Amino acid sequence: MTRLVLLTLLLTATWVSNSASLELNPLVLEEQLLWVSGAQGHVNIYRIPLLTSTPKGSLLAFCEGRKKSGADVGAKFLAMRRSTDKGSTWSPTVFIVDDGQTPDGLNLGSVVVDEDLGAIILIYSVCFFQYHCNPPSTMMLQSLDDGLTWGKPRNLSHQLGVKAFAPGPGLGVQKKYEPAKGRLVVCGHGTLQGDGVFCILSDDHGKNWYNGAALKSIPYNQPKKAQDFNPDECQPLEMPDGSIVINVRNQNRYHCKCRVIVHSYDGGLTLPIDYVRFDEELIDPVVAAGALVKDGVVFFTNPLNDAQRINLTLRWSLNDGKSWEKKSVQLWPGPSAYSCLTFLGSGSAEDRRHIYVIYEKGHKVYDETVSFVKIHLYGGL
Ligand SMILES: *[C@@H]1O[C@H](CO)[C@@H](O)[C@H](O)[C@H]1NC(C)=O
Ligand SMILES: *[C@@H]1O[C@H](CO)[C@@H](O)[C@H](O)[C@H]1NC(C)=O
Repeated sequence: MTRLVLLTLLLTATWVSNSASLELNPLVLEEQLLWVSGAQGHVNIYRIPLLTSTPKGSLLAFCEGRKKSGADVGAKFLAMRRSTDKGSTWSPTVFIVDDGQTPDGLNLGSVVVDEDLGAIILIYSVCFFQYHCNPPSTMMLQSLDDGLTWGKPRNLSHQLGVKAFAPGPGLGVQKKYEPAKGRLVVCGHGTLQGDGVFCILSDDHGKNWYNGAALKSIPYNQPKKAQDFNPDECQPLEMPDGSIVINVRNQNRYHCKCRVIVHSYDGGLTLPIDYVRFDEELIDPVVAAGALVKDGVVFFTNPLNDAQRINLTLRWSLNDGKSWEKKSVQLWPGPSAYSCLTFLGSGSAEDRRHIYVIYEKGHKVYDETVSFVKIHLYGGL
């Protein structure tokens, strides 16, 4: 009897210590194409994918459906698909915004979830390039029912002013820790001349927004040259110490062919130049990348190549991004570009074992499809 108890205790102890020390060994479990450019009427090219989880445990995928061409300007749909079974099956595409025939329509964008309100909030721009239109505006769209229905677009430029601001593309942050617990932080960039990283903030769950941190390009509001300092598209993350780290596209390849890393220690109010650094390990072809913090691990996706948008790769860091593990997982060797990462936050054993990636993927060019990938973090064990 005593022996049996001892044996049971011993087995339990071994099992617990094994699962605690399980090594990260990401494995692609399944992949499916959520959007195929040119395959359906009305849309020429699908681009700029975003992926978020909801407080109810659904996954929502968004992208731009560019109507006439693949160009960043032009008329577009804001396309969405929704999965309630952890990415196995997806709703048909719903166009939640249609900007008609406008010459310079909507551009995605950031999605941020307000956990207190249960709200899914999309921030996007219209007339960003001021091409046959004026002024540029920052817009917000909200769903209070898990992405099933969406309110009318709200014009945040009434509160923020009419500056050209392109959010993300990627995920916004709701601060989980002090300082400014509960704050919504959405960061993006400006026009190519007036570029830089800019954050907009809300301390009342998206009702009122104001301008927060700005890290401006140099020279600001002037034409740029190769290798000028020109931080551009970006993905903010909240670290466990409550600071915000922003992983930024290095548009003019200042200092390196790698990512710019920027820090805010006051919840997105400032981005002091003292804390700007360059992550030489994160080689980049000048692109929007994905980043995510989950259970103390930082994950990062981009086309890992210093010249071309190819070789979409998942990497991870066990020390808050100070260095990156030698091992990585190549998701696609061929043409690939923008990506976005998420996980389901229920805390269940199953949800803790997976992350989800969405990215632009093609055989000849990267904007052929938008692909969704479900990844098991521990090699399927
Ligand atoms: C948004 O609001 C600004 C400021 O009030 C205004 O100038 C602009 O035309 C509005 N944009 C749209 C798309 O309604
Ligand atoms: C692709 O990424 C891998 C790491 O996943 C790297 O070792 C390799 O050199 C990259 N290949 C190209 C062609 O950039």
